Amino acid sequence: MNFFKKESTKDANYISAKESRAISKENKRITDEIEKKRKRKNIPEEEYVTKMKNSNNVVEFDNVHTYFFTDIGTVKSVDGVSFDVPQGKTVGIVGESGCGKSVTSLSLMQLVQRPQGQTVKGEIRFNTGEQAINVVNAPMETMQKLRGNYMSMIFQEPMTSLNPVFRIGSQVDEVIALHNPQMSKEEVKNRTIEMLELVGIANCEGVYKMYPHELSGGMRQRICIAMGLACNPRLIIADEPTTALDVTIQAQILDLLRGLKDKINSSIMLITHDLGVIAEMADYVVVMYAGRVVEQGTVQEIFKTPKHPYTIGLMASKPVVGKDVDRLYSIPGKVPNPVNMPDYCYFRDRCEMCVEACKGKYPGQTSLSPTHVVNCYLYAEGAGSNEKNEMKEGQ
Ligand SMILES: Nc1ncnc2c1ncn2[C@@H]1O[C@H](COP(=O)(O)OP(=O)(O)O)[C@@H](O)[C@H]1O
Ligand SMILES: [Mg+2]
Repeated sequence: MNFFKKESTKDANYISAKESRAISKENKRITDEIEKKRKRKNIPEEEYVTKMKNSNNVVEFDNVHTYFFTDIGTVKSVDGVSFDVPQGKTVGIVGESGCGKSVTSLSLMQLVQRPQGQTVKGEIRFNTGEQAINVVNAPMETMQKLRGNYMSMIFQEPMTSLNPVFRIGSQVDEVIALHNPQMSKEEVKNRTIEMLELVGIANCEGVYKMYPHELSGGMRQRICIAMGLACNPRLIIADEPTTALDVTIQAQILDLLRGLKDKINSSIMLITHDLGVIAEMADYVVVMYAGRVVEQGTVQEIFKTPKHPYTIGLMASKPVVGKDVDRLYSIPGKVPNPVNMPDYCYFRDRCEMCVEACKGKYPGQTSLSPTHVVNCYLYAEGAGSNEKNEMKEGQ
């Protein structure tokens, strides 16, 4: 028994105070440099105005890296994520908790907790209809124009998004007035009532005067959706919009989102860990694991022919009505430590389908159809020889 020996605390995750101080100092240097660049006045347009690869997309994530520089090391929350959101479509993003879904969406809104959180590499191109903006380099004034008017976010917990001490009406009014300074008070109120009606609130005039605590969870989420949609954004980012709600309300909110999306012809980026929600809502699915995209495709491709062992595991772990099982499948093992990510496939240690090639570097991308791509050696050309994949590594 050597529980009390000093070495027993020296595991891979142990950091001495001295090391931690050195890391903090280095972090400060890195983040100060990035912040200095960001806070320049009059950033020239050519630094952030760009071109879409495909003008039918609303957003293109292109090799995005968002890191948190913490005292225990750099957390690579989003580590080379690439996917597109086409105009008028719903893209579902799935993955277990902590895989970087929220940080991906926050990077798009430039709402990552700064200064420690920074998008250090890659482009996020947003199509406003007139121009394409690379959000990563865009100055604050440009972001303020984009947020709300062009893209808006609906969060998981509606109570935390609403201010408990103000009436519903004044909170929605504020959003509308801020984005439409030309409107009179009367017009703003009319628009608020119109929005409340649109999201299916029956007693609009009454609710206008209520406080958040007087409403149910479902109604609060409707208010948040009303605020999010007040300016007809081109993109709605819904981060686990129904996780805090019970199942019947969940179905109503999803119906509402779907209907509204068609009404204002926008796209939805739907983040959830609930595969049922994805199956019902999404056109395309992006599967994330430990900060990277491991597989993406149309909803049929992902649900009918999942390829990545992680996606296959996710599918096997969801309950199916009418299928009698003793226990639901759960993927063994846990996600690697985000501070010290291995240089091989992040899923290898939990994977039950490993092949010889998995001992190599992180697998590159393999296209299975024009829309279906996977990062896994099982499907690499001539599985076993991984030269081609290594060349594309890091995509
Ligand atoms: N402000 C922060 N500081 C440090 N690490 C963070 C911060 N926010 C998120 N992270 C880390 O980033 C990773 C991804 O988080 P997140 O995107 O919230 O996951 P999820 O997929 O559940 O939405 C997690 O490992 C989390 O610990
Ligand atoms: Mg999240």
